Amino acid sequence: MKNLILLLQDKVENAFKECGYNKEYGKVISSNRPDLCEFQCDGALAAAKEYKKAPFIIAEEVVKKCKDCKEFEKIEVIKPGFININISKDFLTEYCNSINDEEKFGCQMEKDKVVVVDYGGPNVAKPLHVGHLRPAIIGESIKRIHRFFENKVIGDVHLGDWGLQMGLVIEELKYRHPDWPYFDENFNGEYPREALFTVSDLEEIYPCASGKTKVNENMTEEEIKNANEFRENARKNTAYLQEKKKGYYDLWKKIVEISVKDLKENYMKLGVDFDLWLGESDSQEYVKPMVEKMKNLGIIYESDGAMVVDVQEPTDTSEINPCMVLKTGGVSCYQTTDLATIMQRQIDFNPSEIIYVVDLRQELHFIQVFRCARKAEIINKDCKLTFLGFGTMNGKDGKPFKTRNGGVMRLENLIDEVNKKVYEKMNETKEMQEEEKLKISKIVGLAALKYADLSNQISKDYIFDIDKFTSIEGKTGPYILYTLVRIKSILNKFYENNSLKEDKILNPVEDIEKELLLKISRYNQVLEESYVENAPSKICTYLYELANIFNSYYQKVKILQGDSKRLDSNIVLLTLMKKIFENGIDLLGFEAPERM
Ligand code: ARG
Repeated sequence: MKNLILLLQDKVENAFKECGYNKEYGKVISSNRPDLCEFQCDGALAAAKEYKKAPFIIAEEVVKKCKDCKEFEKIEVIKPGFININISKDFLTEYCNSINDEEKFGCQMEKDKVVVVDYGGPNVAKPLHVGHLRPAIIGESIKRIHRFFENKVIGDVHLGDWGLQMGLVIEELKYRHPDWPYFDENFNGEYPREALFTVSDLEEIYPCASGKTKVNENMTEEEIKNANEFRENARKNTAYLQEKKKGYYDLWKKIVEISVKDLKENYMKLGVDFDLWLGESDSQEYVKPMVEKMKNLGIIYESDGAMVVDVQEPTDTSEINPCMVLKTGGVSCYQTTDLATIMQRQIDFNPSEIIYVVDLRQELHFIQVFRCARKAEIINKDCKLTFLGFGTMNGKDGKPFKTRNGGVMRLENLIDEVNKKVYEKMNETKEMQEEEKLKISKIVGLAALKYADLSNQISKDYIFDIDKFTSIEGKTGPYILYTLVRIKSILNKFYENNSLKEDKILNPVEDIEKELLLKISRYNQVLEESYVENAPSKICTYLYELANIFNSYYQKVKILQGDSKRLDSNIVLLTLMKKIFENGIDLLGFEAPERM
């Protein structure tokens, strides 16, 4: 089904053509002055230049041709040559009714594209912190939006499980427990089935190990020597691990197992899930054939012990360093695993697109990796590689969000804080059972967090403002939920004593009803745009505007009154709105409570 605006445009374009002008001038847009009209076409102004005629004359000719179109209630020329349009009620109502009949609001389906969404990117042995919030929330929404358009979408968490941090954790474990069989070269038995450590142990061990490698000018020579030694050992462990050396590899598997179990629980709380729990390590088997391929193509060479590929392009305005494919000693680094993972995905899925939802600060890394992948021909030429870089969530001081004492805040704690805030606000107003209140505050809290995040443009930084996010007023998740809950309760009230006899929306009577229908008629276009542009923020804005219009409509129109035809029409309209809100929030990754 075509977007409403395109249907209107068809008519205006046709009129331009019939008057002997290029039809491209018939572009129709939403009105810049909603107080004057609903849609407008400014094409006559541009056409005037080409045809050396007054814009007003061209516009008059075009408008005359449109006078009998059933789509327009009003079409008129405003000096110097704007065409102002109001849509006819019949046509608008008919369009909304067909949206209601369509399974997916009349969106044009893409179908059959294979899209890998790489998001989450947590690191093994490190707890999720606020920095992991955005990739999880954005990635989940992007995945759902692409799935809505009937593509085959594969969400992959892409665990960080293969880098130096693993070598560091192993080194610290070795220091604390030199007696563990993992470190005994001669051990031939079975390694312990139960883990000898917990996830909390790991969370304490990583920062401790990482701290041991830090040097500063106040340190003694001895201390510096120790730090360097610790780092060197960690590097060696990483190399052992990548060779899958016995003991080291087994210990690593345990670390991953314990960590992943915890990560899964945490992502579940966020309403985020992945189809694949692969990690950097899973690409290891592709490293060798990949490097072989690069050698055959003659694009890889040695530089300071490392193996690199040039990725500078003539049009670059700044220098792009060669992409490091292997570190000294053949050790895999961040680029290695990302490249090998591309090869792996090509072989496993032959994707049409891979979307990376990663911190904007990693842009250069992805420029290098994408160029290198293309040069090495490890990815199909037609496969689109998209870097969807997100901005930082900042505190009120404009710096990356921290805990009160300046540390990195754990994601769990952040979520708890938001839920607590919502709970407190509910306490002020509602009498409700404790248990239900807790349950609802979790649902609303998550909506507050996700909506606040997604309503920003992905690449922009934003400020974490818990009071604002959890407010029931303004452009917030709770406001959207509140509106949906209101709609649901009206519908429930209706169905208590009535049933529906008609299934059509009638022509609007009040202006606010027409405004509501106009908004509803735009939903498919908003979805298509948010899909094409990877922009969940468009859905956020749309839902907010729809909620505003609905709430005015609710003030003005006696929804549950009127003759039975009108009443049924109101109910059909509300049901359609409920469907839109539920679909919208589902695409954003949250849900609504029954009441709040
Ligand atoms: N683990 C990485 C980090 O913490 C993020 C991974 C992003 N995805 C990727 N394919 N590189 O920075």
